[in-house]
Amino acid sequence: MAQESQRLAGDVAVVTGAASGLSRGIALKLARNGAVVACADLNATGAEETAQSIRAEGGDAFAVRIDIGDSADVKRAFKEVNDRTGKITILVNGAALIKFSPIETCTDEEWDQVVRVDLTGCFYTLREVHSYMKASGGGRIVQISSSSAKSGSSFGGPHYTASKGGVISLSKYAARRWVKDNIRVTTICPGISNTPLGNHPDSPRKIEDFVKDIPMGRVAEPEDIAGVVLFLVSDESRYVTGITVDVNGGREVYGN
Ligand SMILES: NC(=O)c1ccc[n+]([C@@H]2O[C@H](COP(=O)([O-])OP(=O)(O)OC[C@H]3O[C@@H](n4cnc5c(N)ncnc54)[C@H](O)[C@@H]3O)[C@@H](O)[C@H]2O)c1
Repeated sequence: MAQESQRLAGDVAVVTGAASGLSRGIALKLARNGAVVACADLNATGAEETAQSIRAEGGDAFAVRIDIGDSADVKRAFKEVNDRTGKITILVNGAALIKFSPIETCTDEEWDQVVRVDLTGCFYTLREVHSYMKASGGGRIVQISSSSAKSGSSFGGPHYTASKGGVISLSKYAARRWVKDNIRVTTICPGISNTPLGNHPDSPRKIEDFVKDIPMGRVAEPEDIAGVVLFLVSDESRYVTGITVDVNGGREVYGN
């Protein structure tokens, strides 16, 4: 796959979770449209593999190790990106982990572990990126929530579902607060997707079980999500902020 366009030429994008799944697809998509991409992940080897794939097809990318659940590490990683590129204009927050314990047996530790990454991690990265985007004259942030946030979930546990709901509210808050800084913030709610998380071995529901409820007759592939992210970070969506976009093959919002 060669370059698709130069619509993100001059942009520097941090994509968290870029070692795998949806964020890997998003990193490739943004690079194919001209952005320099910082592939940020706890899995440094996987992040480097994604960056290498981008460079192999002529794009510009590098890997950054980050633990989004650790505020000091988030601070270090964003500084590392800015020191290297001189600006940060796009953030896509796709890093997450999932657990499946039901509310009745979910421990304090498991709750804290998931919320720390899936919700607090988004807070840490938004707080950190703001000054860099402001200094760059503005930016675009896309957060990856989940259809679980709206449906109450038949997939992840209470910590995952509540975190994904919190991500939507956090995006709306930041969108409202930072509109004056020329920073747009939006959220995507993917339906079930063909990634390691979607195929998680601990899940009580197999990915094939979802297909019968999806009007388009298939689960999402990373490219299905990446195209919508490209729209939301590009100038094509310049009059859009604060919204939440369902990307779920037409599945009813409350059916997932
Ligand atoms: N796959 C689905 O069915 C589905 C559906 C709806 C929403 N989502 C959401 O989409 C996003 C991407 O999911 P995916 O399916 O690609 O998952 P994935 O498991 O394939 O990738 C998640 C990535 O996040 C990284 N990560 C985990 N904890 C981290 C941390 N503390 N710091 C930095 N990186 C960390 C992992 O190393 C991994 O590379 C997630 O926010 C997920 O909740 C996924």
